[in-house]
Amino acid sequence: MPIATATVAELLEEKISRRTARVGIIGLGYVGLPLAVEFAKAGFSVTGIDVQESKVAKLNAGESYVQQIPSDVLRPLVAANKFRATTDFSVVRELDTINIAVPTPLRKTKDPDMSYIVSACQEIAQQFGPGKLVILESTTYPGTTDELLLPMLEATGLKVGQDFFLCFSPERVDPGNPKYQTANIPKVVGGITPACTRMGALFYAQALEQVVPVSSTRLAEMVKLLENTFRMINIGLVNEMALMCDRIGINVWEVIDAAATKPFGFMPFYPGPGLGGHCIPIDPFYLSWKTKQAGIEARFIELAGYINGQMPHFVLDKIQNALNDQSKPLKGSHVHVLGVAYKRDVDDVRESPALDIILLLERRGARVTYSDPFVPKIRLDSLELTAQEPNAMAAQADCVVVVTDHAGFDYATIAQNARLIVDTRNAMKNYPSANVVRL
Ligand SMILES: NC(=O)c1ccc[n+]([C@@H]2O[C@H](COP(=O)([O-])OP(=O)(O)OC[C@H]3O[C@@H](n4cnc5c(N)ncnc54)[C@H](O)[C@@H]3O)[C@@H](O)[C@H]2O)c1
Repeated sequence: MPIATATVAELLEEKISRRTARVGIIGLGYVGLPLAVEFAKAGFSVTGIDVQESKVAKLNAGESYVQQIPSDVLRPLVAANKFRATTDFSVVRELDTINIAVPTPLRKTKDPDMSYIVSACQEIAQQFGPGKLVILESTTYPGTTDELLLPMLEATGLKVGQDFFLCFSPERVDPGNPKYQTANIPKVVGGITPACTRMGALFYAQALEQVVPVSSTRLAEMVKLLENTFRMINIGLVNEMALMCDRIGINVWEVIDAAATKPFGFMPFYPGPGLGGHCIPIDPFYLSWKTKQAGIEARFIELAGYINGQMPHFVLDKIQNALNDQSKPLKGSHVHVLGVAYKRDVDDVRESPALDIILLLERRGARVTYSDPFVPKIRLDSLELTAQEPNAMAAQADCVVVVTDHAGFDYATIAQNARLIVDTRNAMKNYPSANVVRL
């Protein structure tokens, strides 16, 4: 296409379609690194940008720190110059596409902390120029892309939809899920203008199996919040069911399994020791924060948040009562926590209810140990613990509490060795015995 007659959009489309576009990913964590790897595998030259030098050095040496991406997958991409990492934001000038996958935590007050997104966008704005596609992937409240990012980028004098393209695309990665990973999870994308949406969809279609264009960035932001709020509220509901069943002596797990035989109109959710991870306990509060400003209280979210937040306390009471039934006080007892990651077969302890349970046990005077094949060490306030061998610990402890049901635990041996088991995940369902107390 002759340069003189091609528009900025046409030139960028051509680069993306030919896979000569230089792709940049800002934030190389659980979300950013798998995305970078997919685009590198699709033949793009990908530059990852992160503020942590140690992460950048590891990646450039072909070493992955994200469980989902084995180093064997990363190494050949680094060797073939398809992927490199840097802390230097001046590379943004050379990039054609920029995805932002930085953290979006909540402050203690449950207000969204936008500082990471703002800082990444300021860096982009400083190196900005025509012909770039910018896509925010961090989970956030509806309005972030058009209210926060757009003014920062248009302050450079460039016009969205014409000189540059801006989209939001929610990340839906499900850590530990062997069936659905970045490449085969449908990708929703919404742009500020129709031209932005088209550009974003064209971009993702190069590396991912299915793209779902939607009408705006706000809509795409809301999609993610609906998905995660749906999970959070259903988990809250089923946790409340567990509390009710416990009180009236019904096995909630059996109830759910039987209800799940209904072939329509029911989807099973399971109770547990509390919500964990970087998304489900946090994201719905982005929505409630935003809607509060519009005068609407998000009551389901607040209620589910309250019930889910009570679960570690309920588990503590279960442990205490189970020990009391054996004439042992919690104070001075040895409690072994089986699994501290926030969910099965992942190495992530962010917001994990296991951490709350350990702190509550310590505060009540119990002696706590833990095992987790994915988490060698944990640090909580002044407490530092190292993972122990589970089968031997089960034999020594006064009580074993199953908090995370990793597939690799030997439940048969643990059932045999332990004097008392409090099971918050129904992991012992195949080993029913008098010494197992279920949630
Ligand atoms: N982890 C998940 O399962 C998941 C799933 C869906 C959505 N999300 C969302 O994706 C976003 C990223 O989450 P994550 O789990 O990948 O986080 P993470 O903490 O694993 O990774 C974020 C990375 O960004 C880097 N970073 C921080 N500030 C930066 C800056 N200004 N410039 C460049 N790099 C910076 C950090 O060093 C870190 O490596 C969050 O909004 C999260 O809610 C996460």
